[in-house]
Amino acid sequence: MKQLNINTVIDVFDNQEELETADQQLMQAAIKARSNAYAPYSNFLVGCALLLENGTIIHGNNQENAAYPSGLCAERVAIFAAGANYPGVSVVKMAITAGPVEGDFEEPVPPCGACRQSIAEYESRQSSPIELLFMGTSGKVARSKSLGDLLPLIFDRNYL
Ligand code: THU
Repeated sequence: MKQLNINTVIDVFDNQEELETADQQLMQAAIKARSNAYAPYSNFLVGCALLLENGTIIHGNNQENAAYPSGLCAERVAIFAAGANYPGVSVVKMAITAGPVEGDFEEPVPPCGACRQSIAEYESRQSSPIELLFMGTSGKVARSKSLGDLLPLIFDRNYL
């Protein structure tokens, strides 16, 4: 028997102002995207902004449905839009902000497992890391340099 020790590095900034300017701008784009979320059932709004290698910014937000499972998370709305509209253009970074409609949420909110799997597909497809910046609605911002840091032992095309 042997053990696999998996090490993950997540940087945590005290607030958005600690980010470099371009990252602050991407988070601002995510905040703007969040204001267009459609989440009447959960009242939990999520916004996402992707930076593509060609400088394009793609926005996404959660889109809910009366038939609950038919809705989609902000991250997948954004990354599928990137894949649909800019095939072959790599995604460099993703900024995410999430929290309830009312009140502040100060802890970073990481993407759900299904979104991690979807984002991982694009990392694998483009053979380069996608950096993630995620926060609540204010306060600390967490950063992982690659989606792989949030989803070790990923299932990908290599197993097929
Ligand atoms: N949600 C996202 O948009 N992204 C996530 O990573 C987690 C959850 C959405 C789905 C649903 O509309 C609401 O947040 C509550 O789960």
